[in-house]
Amino acid sequence: MNDAPIGVFDSGLGGMSVLREMVRRLPHENFIYVADSGHCPYGGKSQQQIIARTVAITDFLLGRGAKLVVVACNTATVAAVEYLRANYSNAFVGMEPAVKPAVALTRSGVVGVLATVATLSGEKLHKLIDRHAGSVRIITQPCPGLPERVEAGELESAETRVLVERYTAPLLAGGADVVVLGSTHYPFLRPLIQQVVGPEVKLLDTGEAVARRVENVLKGDGNGEDLRADRLGPGEVEWFTSGAPQHLKTIGSRLWGLPIVASALPA
Ligand code: DGL
Repeated sequence: MNDAPIGVFDSGLGGMSVLREMVRRLPHENFIYVADSGHCPYGGKSQQQIIARTVAITDFLLGRGAKLVVVACNTATVAAVEYLRANYSNAFVGMEPAVKPAVALTRSGVVGVLATVATLSGEKLHKLIDRHAGSVRIITQPCPGLPERVEAGELESAETRVLVERYTAPLLAGGADVVVLGSTHYPFLRPLIQQVVGPEVKLLDTGEAVARRVENVLKGDGNGEDLRADRLGPGEVEWFTSGAPQHLKTIGSRLWGLPIVASALPA
């Protein structure tokens, strides 16, 4: 089991921002990454549609021997992680927008959260805000169209900038000095978002925290079996997409910073 891969998926390329942190923290692990780019974005889909996609991808990952599945997508976590945990016996690690650290960090007492429509309308985020906000005001902002810009590799285009300006304006007008990047696609837009909001506003994502969580789960959380890979050399990433493999190969490689060998996800 130890040398089995870790399965990771997202609605598209966004989860690569989480994978990057996991590879950094767990360099000896093998990973299988599934970009569901053929069905991106998840943000406007119904919960039933998202559950159906996560089940298909989980079955694929487990069929390839994954020892753990990371739902590297905030939207899929909100819509489906409870369903997955109730219906499979393996461990799942999901995303949680960085509301708690943002509340600890704000000096102005106002935090902005950028996320998809589905994430913002899910009960999970409301509970998270209720639990951690205290006296801090949380301004949430849905960002339709942004994942598509990342999928197109347009990290700095005029069209992307217009969207970023539109979505961050209400947060800045409300006085937010910390902005939570509540979708795994947004860390790829970090330089542009930072430029738009200015250097004083802090941007938080949860990729690193999720990598830490994955390490702890593999360690058995202190009381289970240690499932960390025992190979000495570096692990590898295998790449699959439900979209065009050429898309993952070209745009994906650009985001990843290394050439990607992309295969089609079996239908
Ligand atoms: N990457 C997904 C997330 O983390 C969002 C993109 C989408 O709408 O599919 O929420």
